[in-house]
Amino acid sequence: MLMKVFDRSLVARITASAALVATMLICVSVAMLVHLDIRQAKATLAGKADLSGQMVADAVSAAVWNLSPEEAAVALDPLRAVDDFAKAAVYGTRGELFFMMKAGAHTVPDDALLTRIIEISHPDRQGRPQKLGTLRVDFDLHPTLDAIKRNALFLVGSGLFFLVLVVWGTVYVLRGITAPIVRMTDVMSDLAAGEIDIVVPNRHRADEIGRMAHAVQTFQHNAVELRNAKECAEKAIATKARFLASASHDLRQPLQSLFLFADGLERHVVDREGSQKLLHLRRGLDVMKELLNALLDISRLDAEAEEPDIKDFPLSLLFSQIEGSYRTVAAAKGLTFSITGSELAVRSDPTLLRRILGNLIENAIQYTRAGTVCVDCRSVGPSVRIEVQDTGIGIPRNQMEDIWTEFHQVGNPERDRNKGLGLGLAIVQRLAKLLDCRVEAVSALGRGSIFSIEVPLGQTSAIARPEPAPIAGPTGGRYAVLVDDDAIVLMGLQSTLRDWGYEVLAAGSTDQALERLRTGIREPDIIVADYRLRGGRVGTEAIVKIRELFDSNIPGVLLTGETGPECAADAAMHGLSIAQKPISSRQLNVAVERLLSEASD
Ligand SMILES: Nc1ncnc2c1ncn2[C@@H]1O[C@H](COP(=O)(O)OP(=O)(O)O)[C@@H](O)[C@H]1O
Ligand SMILES: [Mg+2]
Repeated sequence: MLMKVFDRSLVARITASAALVATMLICVSVAMLVHLDIRQAKATLAGKADLSGQMVADAVSAAVWNLSPEEAAVALDPLRAVDDFAKAAVYGTRGELFFMMKAGAHTVPDDALLTRIIEISHPDRQGRPQKLGTLRVDFDLHPTLDAIKRNALFLVGSGLFFLVLVVWGTVYVLRGITAPIVRMTDVMSDLAAGEIDIVVPNRHRADEIGRMAHAVQTFQHNAVELRNAKECAEKAIATKARFLASASHDLRQPLQSLFLFADGLERHVVDREGSQKLLHLRRGLDVMKELLNALLDISRLDAEAEEPDIKDFPLSLLFSQIEGSYRTVAAAKGLTFSITGSELAVRSDPTLLRRILGNLIENAIQYTRAGTVCVDCRSVGPSVRIEVQDTGIGIPRNQMEDIWTEFHQVGNPERDRNKGLGLGLAIVQRLAKLLDCRVEAVSALGRGSIFSIEVPLGQTSAIARPEPAPIAGPTGGRYAVLVDDDAIVLMGLQSTLRDWGYEVLAAGSTDQALERLRTGIREPDIIVADYRLRGGRVGTEAIVKIRELFDSNIPGVLLTGETGPECAADAAMHGLSIAQKPISSRQLNVAVERLLSEASD
């Protein structure tokens, strides 16, 4: 308890040390003084006793010589006037008592007496001293001892008084020193806790505390500047992310119609040269779509708009999806693709982890001319380490850091976008950060590379396997309602659905669609609506109102260029599908067919 107080308080510690030193000094001084006092008092009494004895010795000798006790009484009588005199006794040579005189009636115990024995003698007729016996004089020690006690008490009292004075003085002086230190400590604790809008005290002092205050103020200024810079950077990132998100959203609109028209054009292109050009057009569109998606991914990850959905799932499930996606791609390039079976479960977001591994495997396949691409995993402590190994071209040692930065590509100085965008690893790194995982790469030039990620181990509990993708069936003269405020996209959608054999009602707004549906009699089989419509309205409203009109839960698809949570929440609430723009006619076909087959189940 005391040690805790000492640990926490400088004042307590220094005061205790000062009190200890003062106590020791006072104790030693008091002891020495008392000792001296006792010696002094005893010596005085002894001197007095000697003197008194000597004073009466001759008269007592004469009384003994004359064998007269009365004379002895007269000889000893002056002793009564001496302070502290207790008794006197005269003994013969054989120790027999000749005479005794007491100062008072009470008897002083022997251990409280100071005794002096004096030999008495008398000259005989020849003048030779004749031994007559002894004179014993006793003095009472009590008064002297009492005086010593009083003195000692006084000394101890003064000592205690001094001790209190020392403690009080120390605390007083120390408070003057420690109070500003305590205030500085509080300010520093506040700073450390992130409260940087504080006023630093003691700045005007010229001593060490003043210098400490200046240093703390410098820290505070730095912290304020850092916070401002961080806020600026965050704002800039958010603005950049918003800019990128809206730019890519706005680019998706025309791109969407380009996709649909390119698909629609296919039927009308008959000669080889036209087909060739259409192929180039499609390739260009694919690259543009990829670039837009990657840019949007990066801006969303930078703006921290993505929330991982962490759960336990078996790796085998993820691996089987990956195998399905990449075995044929690898085989087409003449590579062996192997993936190790695993009983392990991980705790992560399966979609994001799949995106990470997908990127790494795509790279492995892309940068390997011959040999194998292998996905391996093993448990390492509380994590599972998943490795993507290849026997490819490898990465120069001096570029191992750079490959993670945006648009950095080792072998594409001419920035040919057909050779990739240089954004895959930048996205991988951001996704790994979002999942709180470590990604690493080791590589040997010309021999191959290993990219690895460490994911937390999970509980082995299976998750539902995804439903197999629906296969497009014949449309059988179905009726589709399309709502989009972009006339070109609407035309593109219309021609695409017509190509699939649909009867189509195309409307530029919800009201137009409702108006035209009211005059008709046929209930639509499917509604495809753009999410953002003019006048702040949304496609969800169009679908809901059309459903109300026919009092039927008609399947609906929302087309959107946004990846924010708003559209997803809206869609989930009304049981709608989302198709991300730009969508190819094949992807739209898959989405529509899946919905229709679900509706017919
Ligand atoms: N497995 C690999 N083997 C060799 N080089 C690789 C591998 N993975 C990535 N790289 C190098 O890192 C660069 C950046 O990769 P990435 O960000 O995915 O962009 P991209 O694949 O579009 O070029 C690549 O251009 C390539 O030079
Ligand atoms: Mg890549």
